Amino acid sequence: MRKKIVAGNWKMNLDYNEGLGVFSEIINMVKDEATGTQEAVICSPFIHIHSLVQLAKGYKVAVGAQNAHQAESGAYTGETSAKMIKSVGAAYVIIGHSERRQYFGESNELLAKKTDTVLKNDLRPIFCIGETLQEREANAHFDVIKTQLVEGVFHLDAAQFAKLVLAYEPVWAIGTGVTATSAQAQEIHAFIRKEIAAKYNQEVADSTTILYGGSCNPKNAAELFGCADIDGGLIGGASLKSRDFVDIVKAFN
Ligand code: 13P
Repeated sequence: MRKKIVAGNWKMNLDYNEGLGVFSEIINMVKDEATGTQEAVICSPFIHIHSLVQLAKGYKVAVGAQNAHQAESGAYTGETSAKMIKSVGAAYVIIGHSERRQYFGESNELLAKKTDTVLKNDLRPIFCIGETLQEREANAHFDVIKTQLVEGVFHLDAAQFAKLVLAYEPVWAIGTGVTATSAQAQEIHAFIRKEIAAKYNQEVADSTTILYGGSCNPKNAAELFGCADIDGGLIGGASLKSRDFVDIVKAFN
């Protein structure tokens, strides 16, 4: 069956020393405390990744990046390639976070290319989808999510798709303190799984990990993760505090 994953997205927070400090606390807590989560991941800024991977050796916490360029290499000043991310030992890359879509104009078409490049370099994409408040109020959320799936990841064959983690992050719930209710989240997760079954087959759908993200915290995680189609979380603000993050990791217990 599908893997239960809790991934932290530090975004552009924590300088190098602060990041190493928080990560050290996390790996020590995860070592000492039983969790029902099968994989805890921290997606840090690029500058932390190499050191976090070294610290994580022998512990059950993986490391990921938050973005990668779609090209293999070349004259793209300021960018970082999937191959570079792989070379320092990361396992995951967040692709298509709503902040990248909104502030950096990343389209579904571009994100499809990024997904291909990340997979080619043997990294697992955590592919983010989700509607804005305006889209939900216009009752367009199912269509928006379906389009993001079709244009972003449904070009993959079943073997490639199996390496993907999906994250449903309603934009109106990110950093706002407004969480989707577990019923709202479950409704969308079930819809996503149904679309995967229609595109591939039921077995692929049943083995795809689908995370929920958006104001997830130690208080609401257990209820969200208790839903049939929610397989973990993508955690922003609460992943910056080791105790909060590990309590979310433990919410499956
Ligand atoms: P918050 O948990 O801070 O709402 O952020 C969610 C998120 O964007 C994770 O990628």
